[in-house]
Amino acid sequence: MSIGSANETTADPVPMFHPHAPRPGDPVPHIPSMAHYRAMYEESVTKPDVFFGKLAQDLLSWHKPFNQVSHGNFHEGNISWFVDGQVNACYNCVDRHALVNPNKVAIIWEADEMDHHRSITYGEVLAEVSRLANVLLKYGVRRGHAVAIYMPMVPEAVYAMLACARIGAVHSVVFAGFSADALRDRMLDAKCRLLITADQGKRGGKTIQLKNIADEALAECPAVHTVIVFQRTNDKSVPFHPPRDIWWHEETSNQRPYCPCTPMNSEDPLFMLYTSGSTGKPKGVLHTTAGYLLGATATTKYIFDLHEGDVHACMADVGWITGHSYIVYGPLSNGATTVVFESIPTYPNAGRYWDLVDKHKVTSFYTAPTAIRALRRLGDDFVKPYDLSSLRILGSVGEPINPDAWMWYHAIVGRSRCAIVDTYWQTETGSIIITPLPGCTPTKPGSATLPFFGVDVAVLDPQTGEELKGNGVTGVLAVRNSFPSIARTIYDNHARYMDTYLLPYKGFYFSGDGVSRDEDGYYWVRGRVDGTFHSLFESTQDYIVRLLTSRSAPLDVINVAGHRLSTAEIESALIKHPACAEAAVVGVPDDLTGQAIVCFCTLKSSDLDNKTLSAALTAQVRAHIGPFATPKRIIITPDLPKTRSGKIMRRILRKVAGREVVQEDLQDDAILKIKLGDLSTLADPAVVALLINSVADRL
Ligand code: WT7
Repeated sequence: MSIGSANETTADPVPMFHPHAPRPGDPVPHIPSMAHYRAMYEESVTKPDVFFGKLAQDLLSWHKPFNQVSHGNFHEGNISWFVDGQVNACYNCVDRHALVNPNKVAIIWEADEMDHHRSITYGEVLAEVSRLANVLLKYGVRRGHAVAIYMPMVPEAVYAMLACARIGAVHSVVFAGFSADALRDRMLDAKCRLLITADQGKRGGKTIQLKNIADEALAECPAVHTVIVFQRTNDKSVPFHPPRDIWWHEETSNQRPYCPCTPMNSEDPLFMLYTSGSTGKPKGVLHTTAGYLLGATATTKYIFDLHEGDVHACMADVGWITGHSYIVYGPLSNGATTVVFESIPTYPNAGRYWDLVDKHKVTSFYTAPTAIRALRRLGDDFVKPYDLSSLRILGSVGEPINPDAWMWYHAIVGRSRCAIVDTYWQTETGSIIITPLPGCTPTKPGSATLPFFGVDVAVLDPQTGEELKGNGVTGVLAVRNSFPSIARTIYDNHARYMDTYLLPYKGFYFSGDGVSRDEDGYYWVRGRVDGTFHSLFESTQDYIVRLLTSRSAPLDVINVAGHRLSTAEIESALIKHPACAEAAVVGVPDDLTGQAIVCFCTLKSSDLDNKTLSAALTAQVRAHIGPFATPKRIIITPDLPKTRSGKIMRRILRKVAGREVVQEDLQDDAILKIKLGDLSTLADPAVVALLINSVADRL
């Protein structure tokens, strides 16, 4: 395969699914035809200021109107939108709906326990968010201060985010599956002074010791002077240390249920959210108020085609960007009803999602391919008993969805009458950037189809940076012009922002993903330019020279069950173990999770047997990052493949770990060479056999 030519995908005949006409009683889609899409898209990229100026006036309520729509560019890294306007995200998500429609349901909370759910109105959300905002003010939080949120999936997690937004504090939500070390690092980096957490969390029948973990993290975060503790389980054994620790319920009951919104400048930070990059150190992606909110609001409206009375259920966690944009800001800014789901898709059984859809009459449902694949394996009988007729839109996000899983979602869950929206985006883009629009875009299983308004996608030759024009091309995915919800910086490290996103290809935002544009102009996102896609390029060139020479390109980012992880971060966790000398981590293809983590470790002398050591090293990764980063396999090996200059040749590790080369291949140097590529730079060629044998050894 050569870059810039049609690939296997474009050559395959792919079925197109054309949108159905709405059922009687269903709303007419906001974007009713491809002609509408094309006209709007054209305006959005040729006259972005006109398009987004109008959209921002239509969709958001401003404290002070803006005169200037956009400013800055990707060359200089100085993006700003609506810069002289003032707006408050909490006002847009809560007050403007509560004031006219206080009894409308804002949040449906579906607890971990099957029979436990609760509806909360916009009026109630306004009161609860205000009370908490007053508590934050009482404890000294002011505009621009960073507040950490480490919460289970309860409505109070949403109140915490909105209370920050209300007074201009910058929230930094840390997913409740992260370990104490990870929470500590994030609180220190963001210079948080206050933490909002809970006594415990519940997930799939298990209890998560949030306060215990938080205490461990806080031991090394002296700047955090106040910890607000929400009682989720009311377990009396949970440690509580006054005066630092204060109870959510006691403090909020003393506050009045109204707190004025602080008018924020458009470019004031709204939140930061840490995500993995190529180095071990996570980066605090920073989003600003107006642009982010407009992106979340517009994409939710058009991609989930929200209409009055709709119930939107996004199954992500608020600890990830998907939860920020499609549980909290997008649905609430639109005045819709959003579902906060505390449990997991398989608890108490694999019918949990569909029970939720049936019970709450969900109209749009959003989950990840990894969940779809897992449920598909467990069988259709878990789906069949439920009435899913309320559904109109089924969304997928987090990684490429394989056509089989797409078809199952479409036929079994969607009963062949729902729109499937495979939505591509990233923490950094803030909102969806490539996606079908329901009732409008013909879909192809496995393709995220076409760009959203304002997103001028370019496919670049990874080596030369030249734009690959026309259809039937493969390269790296980049975006030409800024759009409102793109991240503005990495907190306290603008140089890293420039290095990672804007300098690799001058004038473009570089996504870190590989992509093909097929003969119809449809996009097929291949995943991070590291693992799978990287090896795709290896047939024509040894590596992506440009990426390797750029200072901090995302070379080693992998996607496990929709979670973005950095191999360097896992490696640094492993080498903290006293027995581990060196570690190299790679992603291998996995049927369920997309990619899985395989760790190669060399040892210092150790008395322990390999089985005990693997268990200890696995525990080490879980403790340093969190259980979602659990390695699939730890391979203890006498040596790692290195170049003469000492660089680990991950290409070899990936192929060995993925069993693309096996013991039999060792018999034939020619086959090895075909499978592993040029091995002449390898310092010690004998290492290949060692590795293959280590992988073959069952523990
Ligand atoms: C990476 C972003 C914001 C989404 C949740 C994950 C991959 C995401 C798709 C999709 C193919 C996808 C990309 C991207 N990705 N959605 N529909 N098709 N790949 O957010 O942790 O910032 O990860 O997820 O590789 O770069 P994230």
